[in-house]
Amino acid sequence: MSKSSVKLWVLNGMEASMTPKLIIHGGAGALENTSERADTIRAALKDILVETYEFLKQTDAMQAVLHGVRLLEDEPMFNAGKGSRYQADGTIRMSAALMDGTARRFSGVINIQAVQHPIDVAALLLKEEHRVLAGAQATEYARAKGFEAFDPGTPYRLQEHQNSVKGKTGTVGVVALDSKGAIVAGTSTGGVGGEIPGRVSDSATVAGNYATTQVGISSTGIGEEIVDYALAAGIAARMEDGMSLNAAGTKSLAAAKAAGCSFGFIALDESGAILADKTTESIFYAWHDGQTQETF
Ligand code: GLY
Repeated sequence: MSKSSVKLWVLNGMEASMTPKLIIHGGAGALENTSERADTIRAALKDILVETYEFLKQTDAMQAVLHGVRLLEDEPMFNAGKGSRYQADGTIRMSAALMDGTARRFSGVINIQAVQHPIDVAALLLKEEHRVLAGAQATEYARAKGFEAFDPGTPYRLQEHQNSVKGKTGTVGVVALDSKGAIVAGTSTGGVGGEIPGRVSDSATVAGNYATTQVGISSTGIGEEIVDYALAAGIAARMEDGMSLNAAGTKSLAAAKAAGCSFGFIALDESGAILADKTTESIFYAWHDGQTQETF
């Protein structure tokens, strides 16, 4: 699926305005086609898409991505923020990343604990000289900046952990293109569940979340495999070498599909083209191009 119905007006040769575009995801994995849970996930995604798109129209790509990721982090059915999975030692550690494509600036937190919105800590770090923090120091940084302690656990995730059950939905992400043509990508995750304590996922790396002036990408799926294929940064690099979003996305998934990897991505480019693709059975995502919206 590709959308390129961009409206571009140049006023007196000075000002350009385009229709904002938005794509969000709630994780890739096995699709529970017949389950009520899949329908509930799609309904939540749709509500968050609509609210975030309205916000995008009134603000900009950065504010909208933060707003959208916060809403996804607040929704316990997604594995990010409230509702994050437990690592093997029974502790929830979360990761999030933000990238401003115009500034070509990346920030992130890895294995942060007990904050409501990991993406907001990443947003603060975007202004710092040192922009990626991990582990206890990420949590200490958040506390020093006034982030109150927050329990992201839920009875559902605790039961999953106690039963060694892995869930089927994951990471969340938002990519926005605003009326001035700025692109921002944000990604947040509670990991895969049951991982070795301290495992680093792809989400707060350039494989999991990347943006340039041309494109923004948020990845989802098995982090180790996403890193192996340098997914998000790889798509952006292929586009810098002249490929279209569609060609770059297809090329970036081809070898991973053949190798049996489990991941996917959402992306938007500077022309307003929207793309989501996957090697997995499913990816929960939704997009809004100003006229049409779809949820999958
Ligand atoms: N993609 C999220 C993770 O592997 O933790």
